[in-house]
Order: sequence, then structure tokens, then C-alpha cells
Amino acid sequence: MDYKSVIAKNLSVISNLPEEQIMKLIEIPPQKGMGDYAFPCFALAKSMRKAPQMIASDLALEASLTENGVFEVKNVGPYLNFFIDRSSYAKDIIASINEMGFCYGSSDIGNGQNTIVEFSSPNIAKPFHVGHAFTTVLGNSLSRIYDKLGYNVIRMNHLGDYGTQFGKLITAYRLWGDEAALNEDPIKELLRIYVKFHDEAKNDESLEVSARENFKKLEDGCEEEVLLWQKFRDESLVVFNKLYSRIGVEFDNYNGESFYSDKIPAVVDMLREKNLLEESEGAQVVRLDDEKLPPCIILKSDGTTIYASRDLAAVLYRLNEYNFNKNIYVVGIPQELHFKQVFGVLRKAGYKCADDCVHVGFGLVKFKNMKFSTREGNIVLLEDLLDEAVKKTREVIEENAKQRGQDMSEKEINEIAEKVGIGSVIYTYVKSGREKDIVFSWEDMLNFNGNSAPYLMYTYARTRSIIRKAEEAGLKPTSDKDVIATLTSDDEYEVISNLASFEGAVKKAAEIYEPFVISRNIFETASSFNSFYNNCRILGEGVDKTTSEARLALCEAVCNTLKSGLNLLGIETVERM
Ligand code: ARG
Repeated sequence: MDYKSVIAKNLSVISNLPEEQIMKLIEIPPQKGMGDYAFPCFALAKSMRKAPQMIASDLALEASLTENGVFEVKNVGPYLNFFIDRSSYAKDIIASINEMGFCYGSSDIGNGQNTIVEFSSPNIAKPFHVGHAFTTVLGNSLSRIYDKLGYNVIRMNHLGDYGTQFGKLITAYRLWGDEAALNEDPIKELLRIYVKFHDEAKNDESLEVSARENFKKLEDGCEEEVLLWQKFRDESLVVFNKLYSRIGVEFDNYNGESFYSDKIPAVVDMLREKNLLEESEGAQVVRLDDEKLPPCIILKSDGTTIYASRDLAAVLYRLNEYNFNKNIYVVGIPQELHFKQVFGVLRKAGYKCADDCVHVGFGLVKFKNMKFSTREGNIVLLEDLLDEAVKKTREVIEENAKQRGQDMSEKEINEIAEKVGIGSVIYTYVKSGREKDIVFSWEDMLNFNGNSAPYLMYTYARTRSIIRKAEEAGLKPTSDKDVIATLTSDDEYEVISNLASFEGAVKKAAEIYEPFVISRNIFETASSFNSFYNNCRILGEGVDKTTSEARLALCEAVCNTLKSGLNLLGIETVERM
């Protein structure tokens, strides 16, 4: 139940103020003693022609009657303070979460509308580094969030598989390529010959000429060049897909830049027909002065197309194919201007869908006290980061298991370390607002007591183990609402109010394209659950059956919420660790 809107609805009836306005005015008081929600009555002073204090005292009486047992209402100065009735709150929240299970947080507000999430989009023949992982993790999470809210999500990987560099690669491969090496480690071999091309081209002009010719042949669809390009693309995708499956990411569509190249002439015609194309220094551009943006180049002076024209063709293709209600691009902040220009051109050409296109930017990736054997120049590869995280996690898990006397097989430890290690990397990307630069540090990532994936996964595993232990003692989480209604202590109430805010957090995360809203929410749930766990016994001596079973229901609700939340972030859970 959304308690805030219950208050708004009732207040609206007795005050004549529109519900939405009341929603905006309702506050969460800074101190617990002031209630769970507060409504400042200043906004009513004018229409009711009374001092806010008076209004508060008059409304408190009326409101108490309408709230019908869900709230106690008190007036304090110009404020109306609402105190949730803890019994009915516990009953309502815990019972509905446990009925939904891991689906908790889902809704049908999306109504099956088509939402495109474009993410990852690496350049083929290049190493997959930690920056690509940022878009991949964010986009995967946003896809899951929109899916959970009932949208029909189309996951697109707009591969960078087009451009003059492929002419260079074809030339280089013919001169120095090694097929066996390409099959063995495609990206490494392609990078090797690409670097060699640039070294050699410094002293040999004919190389650039040959590269241009090969690119032209590729564009014209010449068979041999297309076959080589296809091979580079396929082999790169094998490597990328291995990484994707390791971190649990899937796509519906891999139409890269190349896919749109033959759709550009139609875009150029359309812009020309609408009189939007102008010549500037030999190039064809669309002016965007009204939007205070630099002109968007559509065709270069030599008639070749550029990145922006391929993106324009892509939007129109997507509109035609999916009639999207939203088209989201998860791409780094440095490309902000590019997307503003693309959307600006669309708007100028009269496409209303321009307003449904969103660029979701993100910051840079940094490292604190971490050394990697940077295999490929100065960049850190995602694979190396994952391997190292898994290795370090395994050490911690082995140590913990030894200390607790847990018997775990080598296989089980490996499986847990893989999931927790990967989780720790994913979590770092979604732990803070996406526009901030993120800093990887082993201390933070693997801090089993801090805001980290291991902490959340451990808390989940703890709830599971409590429920398993209870079963052995013949106890189970209750679904009896009157029993659940006994969960009213401060510790219990704190957990329940965090659990209750999860649904809103999922919606908010979608609204502002910030998985971080969810990570913060479930971290708070986990923290409050752990203090509850330290302060209140769930099982064992001195706890009667009813209390045990009520607390087990709370435990189960935490378990459901954490699993649902972690899943939305792209993180798997483990049953014990
Ligand atoms: N391949 C590009 C890069 O690595 C990102 C593509 C972003 N998507 C787009 N529709 N332009 O920088």
C-alpha cells in the first residue's frame, strides 16, 4: 500500500486541495517522534483564511476520522503529523511481500509499451575494457527495472562495427595476419595488426591508400572484403558474448553501425526535402542554432557519412520497427553533445519521438591502489578485473569458512566466489549516482560489513539459513495476518518501513534512470535487518512459537526483497557463503 497517497487522497477530500499538490507537500519528518509523515498547513492558509496552526488543529480532528485505523493523526503547530499504526502496517506490508515472493516490486504500469534500452555497444576488434562494463552493467540493470515495471524491453547492442578502421584492418590482416592467432585470441590478434598498421604507416603512405580502397570496397559490398570484415565481427562477438554470459547479460539485437549505413540516403533525402540541409565548408549540415547547439554534420565534404548520420538512421529504423515509447541510450557523458545534436535534428525534422529519446550518461572509472598487468596498453580489461575480484573473494570465503568451521567443497567455494566476485564488481558500478566517477578499491568492494555486494549477498544468505534452521526445528514463516501484526517493536518497524519503500524505489530508479536508487534502498533494508537480528532473537530459547514465526515472516520478506533488488541490479544470490 502506498501510504503517502492514502493520506493525500483523504486530505484532498477534506481540504479541497488537489491530490498531486498534497503529494508534493507531504514530508517525512526528520525525527521519529514527529510521526511517519507530516503535512505543513501553510498552503491552505490563503484558501481557508485561517492561521496554519488553526487549520492543523481543525483538520487533525477530521483526518483522524477518515484515516480509519491506519494512522493516528496529531497536530503540532502548523503541522499535521501522521503516525502509522504499526500493527496494520506490518500486516499489510509483510503479507503482501510474501505473497509476491521474488516478484516483489513488479507492477504493470508499463502496460507492455516498447522500451528500447541501447547499451554496451563496444567497438569490434577492440578490447572490452572497464568503461564498456559501465554501460553494460547500467543498461542491463535499467532493462531489468523497466521489464519489472511491465514495459516490453528491447535490449540493443549498437556495435561499433563500421568505419575507416576496418579498411585498415583488412589491409593489415592481408599483410601480417595470422589465422591461428585470430582463432585463438581474436581481439589480441586484431589489436596487434592494428597497432602494427599505424607503426608502419608512418613510413609507408601506400598503406593508408590501400586501407581507403579496402574500406570503399567494403562499403560497396565486395565479397572478399565483406567476408573478412564479417570474420572480424563474428570473432569479436564470440569474445564479447563470453563476457556477457559470465556477467548475466543478454541482448535481443546486435544491429551495429554497419546495419544502418544503407539506410542513410533516405535520411539525407528526408532532411533535404524538409529544407534542413545546408552546405558548410563543403559538408552538409543541419543547423541547430535554435537549440543553441553547433550544427550537426550529416555528410562530410567527401560525401561519406558519419557517426551522427548512422544514429539518425538508427532512430528512424527503431521507430518504424518498434514504435517505441522510449528509446534509451546508455553511453558515457563525453557523448552528451552528440546525442543532443541527433535529437535536435529529429525535432527540427518534426519527429515527436525526439522527446522520447533519452541519453543516460555516466562518469569515468578509476582505481585506487590496484595493479593490473595491463595487457593491452594502458586500459584495464573487464576480464582481468573480474578474475582478480573472484580470486580475492575466494580467499575471503575460504578464510571465513575455516573460521566458522563450515565444510564447503572446492566446487561450492568456486561457485560462490565467482558469483560474489562478479557481484562485487557489478555493485561498484551501481552503488552511487551514475554521473559520478567511480573508484574501484578492494577494501570497499570486498568489505563484508560495508555497502558492498558481499554484504548484501551475505545478508540474503543469512535470511535463507535462518529459515532453513527454523524448518529443522519445525517452524516456518507465518502467513497468519494477526500473528504478523505483532511485529511492532522499533527494530521490526524500521525493517518494515524500509521494505515498504522498495516498490517506490524501483519506480523512482526507472524515472531517473538510476539503479543506484535501488542499491541504496536494499542496503538500508539489509542494515536494518542486521540490527534487528542483533537485537531480537528469532529462534531458540526464550522465544515463543508465535514470535518466532512472526519474525520468520519478516525474515522471509527481507529475503524476497533483497533477491528481487539484487536481481534488478544484475547480481545473483547464493544460498550460503
Ligand atoms: N561504439 C561507441 C563507443 O564505443 C558507442 C556507441 C553509442 N551508441 C550510439 N548509438 N551512438 O564509443
